[in-house]
Order: sequence, then C-alpha cells, then structure tokens
Amino acid sequence: MKQIITALVACMLCAINIGAVAGPEKDRKAVLEHHKKNLPNVKFEDYVYGALALNPDAKAQYDEIMSFPPYLNDMDTAKAMWEKPFGNGKTFASCFPNGGKNVAGGYPYFDNDAGKVVTFENALNACLKKNGEPELKYGSHELTLLSAHAKSLSDGMKVKVEVKGAGALAAYEKGKTLYYSRRGQFNFSCAVCHINYAGKFLRSEQLSPLVGQAAHWPEFRAGTDATSLQERFKQCQKNTRGVPSELNSEEYNNLEYFITYMSNGLPMQTPVFRK
Ligand code: HEC
Repeated sequence: MKQIITALVACMLCAINIGAVAGPEKDRKAVLEHHKKNLPNVKFEDYVYGALALNPDAKAQYDEIMSFPPYLNDMDTAKAMWEKPFGNGKTFASCFPNGGKNVAGGYPYFDNDAGKVVTFENALNACLKKNGEPELKYGSHELTLLSAHAKSLSDGMKVKVEVKGAGALAAYEKGKTLYYSRRGQFNFSCAVCHINYAGKFLRSEQLSPLVGQAAHWPEFRAGTDATSLQERFKQCQKNTRGVPSELNSEEYNNLEYFITYMSNGLPMQTPVFRK
C-alpha cells in the first residue's frame, strides 16, 4: 500500500513537472518565436508599438504626435481625479503599495479568495468601495481616464503578470481558449489575425502581433477619446461579425489575463495615442 501511495505521489510530482514545462511561459516563448520568424526585424522592446513597429513612416508620424500629444488636457483631468480626496480624506494612492507607482504591471492578477481575475480597473473600483465612494461604471470615460493616469505612474515598469496555482492557470487557459476559438460570421479567431497574420495588411490596417498588445492601455484614439483594452476586444469582435462579451465579464477578464501575460517583460507605455 505504502508503495502505491509513494508511486502516486511521485506521479503527481511528475505531472506537476510536466505542467511547469507546458504552461504559460512556454506559450509566451512559442508565440514570440513565431513572431520572430515572421517579423525578423522587430526588436523585443519595440513590440509595445504594435503595428507601428512594422512601419517606419507611421512610427515617425507617431513620434511626432507624441512630442505634443493631443490628450494632455484629458490627462490633467485624470490626474485631478486620482488626487481628489475621498469623503474620508484618503486618496487612491492609499490603496496601492508605493502610492500606486510601479504596480500596474502586475495586473491583472488572480485573486485566490475571490476565485477570479482582478483587472487594474477592478482594483480602482475596489478602492472606491473600500473608502465608501460609489464605484465607476466599467468602460465609462471616467474610469478609463482614471486608469490612464493611474497606469501612467507605472510607465516603464515591465509587465509581470503571474499565473500561480490551479485557479490562476484555469483562468489563463480559459482566456487562451477564447483567443484561439474561431467565432463570428467570418469564423476568425483572435489568433488568426494577431499571430498567424501579424504584420500582414487587412484592408489599410497592418495587423499588430499579440506580444506587446497589452502593454499600453488605455490609449487615446482619434484625438482625445480614451479607450480601454476591453473596448478594443469588443471592436475586434464586432469587426468579425461576432457577438462581443460584456466589459468586465469573466470571459473578457480571463482574455485580458492571457493577453497581458503575453506582454510579460515589456515596458509599459501609458498613455499612448493611436489613430
Ligand atoms: C480579422 C482580423 C482581426 C481579428 C479576428 C481580431 N482583430 Fe484585433 N485588430 C485587428 C485590426 C485590423 C486592428 C488594428 C490594427 C492593429 O493594431 O492591429 C486590431 C487591433 C487590436 C488590438 C490593439 C492593438 C494595439 O496595439 O493597439 C488588440 C488588443 C486586439 N486587436 C485584440 C484582439 C482580440 C482579443 C481579438 C479576438 C477577440 C481580436 N483582436 C481579433 C484585426 C483583428
């Protein structure tokens, strides 16, 4: 009997070992290798520029816009929101280590007690709740702007999303499955466009690679409209005639968890402007 138990324990350990070899880190390296083969001229740190990394003219235009970005007024508003004291006199900075500096790169994370993925915007809302303030609607202009300022405090921090434990791994795997599932009338998966066809043109738009996509949100589009990463998921699903999920749904939060893991090791850039 003892021998059987020993054998079982040994086998459990071997399964864990196999898990450690398969898992998220192996996925990330495989996707990166795939990109490297198809896009040999892109340096690792340049993946944060998305499709701009593939087009020197567009990148030059972008650099010019970023020298005096059109969203400066919005960012002033965002900073004021972050700094405004709550009714109890505390501020958002009180809810995060280091006053909120260099923390956003660790989001989303898996909360074992709650059994779910927590995004950075969830953490901002949790802070409001903890301090007796009304939460902000997910996807609202206000929450996205607030997030833009709060994340700018982590500008340059390397993305370091962790997937530890069974619950975290299950959430990651669900996000990954969604990324690779073909959906919508056009029967596309996210992976077809952003892994297989990354760098190719879809009408006038060049497709960004998966690696780096999550390191620069929220972004300001077409002037001063702050857009969140999950709103971009919606747009891509609509473009392929799919039915988008709700913002902050378990599905989208898991997807964000997977996608952000794929940007691990890249420096965050928030906010940015995109056309
Ligand atoms: C038919 C092709 C197609 C599919 C399928 C698709 N996208 Fe996109 N996606 C685009 C295009 C085009 C853009 C704009 C150009 C770019 O930045 O890649 C884009 C942009 C994005 C961006 C912003 C990139 C950046 O750096 O600003 C993200 C994030 C994204 N897509 C995620 C997804 C996710 C998640 C899915 C699956 C739910 C998905 N996409 C499915 C075509 C697609």
